[in-house]
Amino acid sequence: MTMAVFLFVVIVIFQNYLSSASIFTIVPETQYVYVNDTVTFECATNVTQFGLFFVTYPSVMGSVSNSAGMASLNLTATSEVNGTSVTCYASNGTATEPAYLYVQSPPDIVINITGYQLDSCCMFISWYPPFTLPGLTVQYIISVGTDQQYLNDSITNYTYCPMNPTNKQYLFNITTTNKAGNGSTSNITVGFQSSSNFQSIYQEHLTYHINNSWNLHYLLSAHQLCTGVSLTNITITGCTVGSSSTCYSSTNVSTSRSSSDNNISLVVIINLPSKEILTTNVILYYQNGAIFQSNTIMISTHDLQHIAVVNITFNKVCLQFEFVNGSTTDNIYIHITNYEEPVHQPVYYNISPNDQLNFIQCITNIPAGNNLTLYACESMDGCTTNPAAVLTGINIDKAPIVSSTMLTSYLNSHEDLLGSTSNPICYSSVLLMYTSTTTVSSTVISTMTIEDCNIRESQGLSVMRAYQ
Ligand SMILES: *[C@@H]1O[C@H](CO)[C@@H](O)[C@H](O)[C@H]1NC(C)=O
Ligand SMILES: *[C@@H]1O[C@H](CO)[C@@H](O)[C@H](O)[C@H]1NC(C)=O
Ligand SMILES: *[C@@H]1O[C@H](CO)[C@@H](O)[C@H](O)[C@H]1NC(C)=O
Ligand SMILES: *[C@@H]1O[C@H](CO)[C@@H](O)[C@H](O)[C@H]1NC(C)=O
Ligand SMILES: *[C@@H]1O[C@H](CO)[C@@H](O)[C@H](O)[C@H]1NC(C)=O
Ligand SMILES: *[C@@H]1O[C@H](CO)[C@@H](O)[C@H](O)[C@H]1NC(C)=O
Ligand SMILES: *[C@@H]1O[C@H](CO)[C@@H](O)[C@H](O)[C@H]1NC(C)=O
Ligand SMILES: *[C@@H]1O[C@H](CO)[C@@H](O)[C@H](O)[C@H]1NC(C)=O
Ligand SMILES: *[C@@H]1O[C@H](CO)[C@@H](O)[C@H](O)[C@H]1NC(C)=O
Ligand SMILES: *[C@@H]1O[C@H](CO)[C@@H](O)[C@H](O)[C@H]1NC(C)=O
Ligand SMILES: *[C@@H]1O[C@H](CO)[C@@H](O)[C@H](O)[C@H]1NC(C)=O
Ligand SMILES: *[C@@H]1O[C@H](CO)[C@@H](O)[C@H](O)[C@H]1NC(C)=O
Repeated sequence: MTMAVFLFVVIVIFQNYLSSASIFTIVPETQYVYVNDTVTFECATNVTQFGLFFVTYPSVMGSVSNSAGMASLNLTATSEVNGTSVTCYASNGTATEPAYLYVQSPPDIVINITGYQLDSCCMFISWYPPFTLPGLTVQYIISVGTDQQYLNDSITNYTYCPMNPTNKQYLFNITTTNKAGNGSTSNITVGFQSSSNFQSIYQEHLTYHINNSWNLHYLLSAHQLCTGVSLTNITITGCTVGSSSTCYSSTNVSTSRSSSDNNISLVVIINLPSKEILTTNVILYYQNGAIFQSNTIMISTHDLQHIAVVNITFNKVCLQFEFVNGSTTDNIYIHITNYEEPVHQPVYYNISPNDQLNFIQCITNIPAGNNLTLYACESMDGCTTNPAAVLTGINIDKAPIVSSTMLTSYLNSHEDLLGSTSNPICYSSVLLMYTSTTTVSSTVISTMTIEDCNIRESQGLSVMRAYQ
């Protein structure tokens, strides 16, 4: 084996001068390499007597090894615009078809960069890759501010979400690079503008009473501000309305993303010691330090804000109801009971404010009693344990003793209501309530019982309406 190094030479090695038929080959036919890569071409013949040599154009320095019927050329690739051709010759002058070597320099600049603000945290740039030889790659070094990112070959876009984004022009330098070295740098500026406020939309809430505190569970919809950055936490704060405002916060927020639009739904649970009207707002903390605060949303854990006695007459209480602004509920249940002798089967009166927020309504047919307690409730479940408002110390005087003619006229006047053919229906529980809350002489009981059945039935209708 011989070895030789030539500068700008045609490499010729003679071994034999025998002439015979030969087929010979050179491989590879085409090579694409980076500048300064070492490249090898192989030439072979089955006529081993022939010496083989290489001719390069333009001439390149290289080293050759030669053995019987085989020759190989090593050379260092230098950049040539039209490539380098390599031809293998047999010693009698027969040549192969030329093989070609193409050399890739450091890459050109990227083509057609575009950039825009993606969302409230991030910017997006994209480009087309520069021309590069087949099979070879180009990478990109993106620098913006002090941040630098190295991107692989197939990636031609970049989403940049800076730490603590500020409203300014961001300059992106894109430097192309490959194995041969760094190419050229091009740049683009992207203006960034973002507000620290956002709009959240209140959807609904639900309150329930657990372990002596009120749980406020409410649903908000907020625009998803940053897509490329993860949320670190969400804080929802609710402050009571009034002069001595108390604030309650929760980070116990569960989120769900809607795939169709860019919204997130937030469900929060806030513990409150009592029913409250709260001004709430949402703060979103993103991992890049961006903080967004929502608009204020007023929510109330209750609809009934205030209840007061206007006046009390025999078997009747007139009450002033005041509802929270924005209430849409239509039903309030009133339950009146005797504190000393609690009634086990409560009777409910259904109040329908008909969308008024402030109104007076009188409740009639209340049995006489001293120190009655009135519970106003927003649902029938556990009305006395979960009241919206409580009034105590209501005294309903006994009805004046009614004569039998008065009673008859009372019954007649109510006959249409009850239906003349139907008998009054008496609920045993109602009778129980009656007997347990009043003490009257036995002669009065029979007459009062009839009246009471009528009363109870009309109240029973109220209950049914309330359940509709
Ligand atoms: C070289 O030798 C081969 C095989 O013997 C023959 O086919 C070819 O024509 C020869 N070439 C020249 C230039 O003599
Ligand atoms: C070389 O190979 C070719 C075809 O593969 C054949 O035609 C030729 O005869 C061979 N020459 C010798 C000297 O073996
Ligand atoms: C060509 O390079 C290969 C590997 O790089 C090496 O094994 C071989 O000896 C080299 N040949 C010559 C002639 O320099
Ligand atoms: C490259 O090839 C083109 C056409 O084939 C020719 O016009 C040009 O002069 C060549 N350039 C060099 C540096 O050889
Ligand atoms: C770059 O932009 C120019 C002009 O807008 C357009 O003609 C060309 O096709 C674009 N190049 C690529 C690779 O899209
Ligand atoms: C971007 O390139 C310019 C020169 O074109 C240079 O002045 C600047 O410092 C570069 N910025 C970064 C972030 O690399
Ligand atoms: C950004 O590039 C990735 C491939 O790296 C591609 O999947 C994605 O669609 C591109 N995004 C855009 C918006 O062009
Ligand atoms: C190629 O090698 C030469 C000599 O070692 C060196 O001067 C040149 O910078 C190298 N080129 C590249 C692109 O690496
Ligand atoms: C951005 O690139 C342009 C050329 O495309 C150059 O003139 C300008 O100086 C560069 N700007 C910076 C800030 O590097
Ligand atoms: C929420 O995240 C911000 C920033 O990461 C941090 O300052 C704050 O203390 C966090 N709050 C809670 C309750 O984890
Ligand atoms: C009690 O108040 C109601 C509602 O304001 C009123 O209609 C009624 O006349 C009052 N009754 C008495 C006895 O003042
Ligand atoms: C009236 O009822 C309340 C509870 O509802 C009780 O605290 C109070 O002692 C009672 N007053 C009288 C005089 O019975």
